[in-house]
Amino acid sequence: MTIHVKNNIHWVGQRDWEVQDFHGTEYKMTKGTSYNSYLIREEKTVLIDTVDHKFSYQFLQNLEMEIDLHSIDFIVINHAEEDHSGALSALMEKIPNTPIYCTEAAIDSIVGHHHHPEWNFKTVKTGDSIDIGNGKQLIFVEAPMLHWPDSMMTYLTGDAVLFSNDAFGQHYCDERLFNDEVDQAELFEQCLRYYSNILTPFSALVTAKIKEVLSFNLPVDMIATSHGIVWRDNPIQIIEKYLQWADNYQEDRITIFYDTMSNNTRMMADAIAQGIHDVDPGVAVKVFNVSRQDKNEILANVFRSKGVLVGSSTMNNVMMPKIAGMLEEITGLRFKEKKAAAFGSYGWNGGAVDRIHTRLTDAGFETTESIKTKWRPDGKAMRECKAYGQKIAKQWALTALNVTPIEFNTVSSEEDKPASELPHDSDCQCMICTVCNWVYDPVQGEPNQGVEPGTAWDDVPDYFLCPECNLGKDVFVPHSKEDVA
Ligand code: FEO
Repeated sequence: MTIHVKNNIHWVGQRDWEVQDFHGTEYKMTKGTSYNSYLIREEKTVLIDTVDHKFSYQFLQNLEMEIDLHSIDFIVINHAEEDHSGALSALMEKIPNTPIYCTEAAIDSIVGHHHHPEWNFKTVKTGDSIDIGNGKQLIFVEAPMLHWPDSMMTYLTGDAVLFSNDAFGQHYCDERLFNDEVDQAELFEQCLRYYSNILTPFSALVTAKIKEVLSFNLPVDMIATSHGIVWRDNPIQIIEKYLQWADNYQEDRITIFYDTMSNNTRMMADAIAQGIHDVDPGVAVKVFNVSRQDKNEILANVFRSKGVLVGSSTMNNVMMPKIAGMLEEITGLRFKEKKAAAFGSYGWNGGAVDRIHTRLTDAGFETTESIKTKWRPDGKAMRECKAYGQKIAKQWALTALNVTPIEFNTVSSEEDKPASELPHDSDCQCMICTVCNWVYDPVQGEPNQGVEPGTAWDDVPDYFLCPECNLGKDVFVPHSKEDVA
């Protein structure tokens, strides 16, 4: 099947309705994708890109129904990744000496994938052109890191079509090929998902490349991408979107994501979200559980946000693994000019929150103070989380808010502090658990285990267990010897 694009240009690509994974399983395709290949028939016959290797057979079959493969004068490979050059091996078996125009970096990638250094490569650089007859030329524009070092775009004069490969594309599958034919909300959702999850780290290059292409003053009537739709209706709109997205994009939005062992950190997330909304109803607050929800959707929301709150229960004194994975991914995406903070519930130490805070700072976020809650948040702790959200809303507001948030104090008074954090005299008789810092105070005893107030440590029975971590008396030492103040 072919689709007429313009004049002597036809789409000869492949739709992939059922694909769900890209880059291993790191990018979930919720709307399928397409691998767009284009056939140009002027005095010269040119094939622009191929399709994913798993569709090699269908691709050749389809192409052979359209033309004699030997009539192809040359092939342009804009990008060597397998979803575009994958069918080359099968194609080159049929037409082995056909020239392949590509960047120098692409030769390395193509040979690395296909292991055919003998193929007839023709290296091109930005500004190089080739005459294809009927007064038309192909002009090449290198576009390193959009998406790989080998990437380039190809511009067809006369028809004014830019074959942009990955840039301006989206993982989106529809029988209709052109941007004005499809659901606009679906289309732009997938464009943003693609940009935020794949191109964000290269935003500076995106801006520079677009400015370079615009400086050529070439008319652009269509942008023919390698995934998804062809931009024929106002193709400049996606260029303008890219310039916005590449410019440290943010909306009045806060994304909260967390993982939770016992629902306690989730309760905190709910209360923080409510607190933000109370103070600033205009801000969009989106809350996600990383264990249950689409990672790429979460990252797209982080991309759109002015700030992000990351929560985790503490497990083995570190954060939960899926949160660690998300932070690694966020670090790689190199978001800029966003605020962030950490939160989480803990039992006997709150290591996760501290580690998240450090990781967010290292990833370039402007970090705000964190909040921890011990065990399941009670009414007081939920109020504190809500007040914390109110404070965040005010601190992160894009314009000054005319409200006074409730005063926030995670530890509001001396009597609220755990015994381990209270000052102790050097001669006090308290004993501290060396594992979790719970303090046995002889004045209070531990009535839950039948240890009456006023019971000296030596008289505490051997069956006694630390009420926090359930370990025995042997892990306790005199509090006065521990540097815990
Ligand atoms: Fe669509 Fe970078 O491959």
